[in-house]
Amino acid sequence: MKHATAPAPETSTPEPVGTPRAVETRASSRPVTLLDLEPRTDTFLEEALAGLRRPSGQRTLPCKFFYDRRGSRLFDKICELPEYYPTRTELGIMREHAPAMGRACGRDAMIVEFGSGSSLKTRLLLEHLPRPSACVPVDISRAHLLEAAETLADAFPAIEILPVCADFTQPFHLPTPRRASSRRVVYFPGSTIGNFTPAQARPLLARIADLVGERGGLLIGVDLKKDPAVLERAYNDAAGVTAAFNLNLLVRMNHELGASFDLDGFRHRAVYDEVNGRVEMRIVSLRPQRARVGDEAFEFAADEVIVTEYSHKYTVPQFAELAREVGLELQETWRDPASLFAVLYLSQQRGRA
Ligand code: AVJ
Repeated sequence: MKHATAPAPETSTPEPVGTPRAVETRASSRPVTLLDLEPRTDTFLEEALAGLRRPSGQRTLPCKFFYDRRGSRLFDKICELPEYYPTRTELGIMREHAPAMGRACGRDAMIVEFGSGSSLKTRLLLEHLPRPSACVPVDISRAHLLEAAETLADAFPAIEILPVCADFTQPFHLPTPRRASSRRVVYFPGSTIGNFTPAQARPLLARIADLVGERGGLLIGVDLKKDPAVLERAYNDAAGVTAAFNLNLLVRMNHELGASFDLDGFRHRAVYDEVNGRVEMRIVSLRPQRARVGDEAFEFAADEVIVTEYSHKYTVPQFAELAREVGLELQETWRDPASLFAVLYLSQQRGRA
């Protein structure tokens, strides 16, 4: 069913949030119906200021702002780097084990992808699902989401594609597929879960458990603990792509927030913290200096660090324990031969509605 509602003129009563509507698609594409939950996205200034107002030595900038056009292109280049093993390793696991993953999800499953869903990994999963009921890509970026949904709709004409524009770190509702599903399975690839501290990951996993319901599933990509030298190389590549990706936060602040960061006054450095089991991405001030953001001034000491991203690494038992605390039981584990990365299937066992 398509709800061919034209966007309401600004003067009329706005449609309620969550009204599904048909959206403009490429002429060649099957139309897709977008469920737009209108996530808030315009918080770059607020969140940058909040992170920079913390005491010197504890300053942060949120990693979600890496991904503007330039940042997304740089991330794509990171995925091709010889040192950056996660992307190609996870893809290799999908190539090898997608049939078994499809069997784990079972017949008539509804796949809810956290992230935009046009990736090769998603396609591999969808190709091996027995008679999927629907695929629901969830993304905060409306543009990425629609592009991805159209690509999926063209590649999988037999699968209902129901994109939802939402912030998956907040609770949201799922659309109802035309054909009833036997179970809901969240697919959360890319080791994005690593960006969350365990204290943040726990409530996110609990919301996933709620979303999929009893006997629903979670298929998730998790980057594993390994030699710290391998980890530090993956995040300090020789070509400097990760450095450009990290420092792009300063570039964005200068362009979008009227900030005055001297781009030659800061450098990139990633460090593995063994105690917390995570790579810390840092921007380091090369000398004492001052930068403005909006009309606020910030002082940076020489060697002062701004933390921009955590990338947590787990052992399979550690991740299984974290998930078990919120009612998700590990069912199956697939890894590459060198155990760099794992894809896990977990099932909701606590019987919550
Ligand atoms: C997209 C979160 C999986 O943590 O490895 C890559 C992002 N940061 N290089 C990661 C990232 C620096 C990446 N994730």
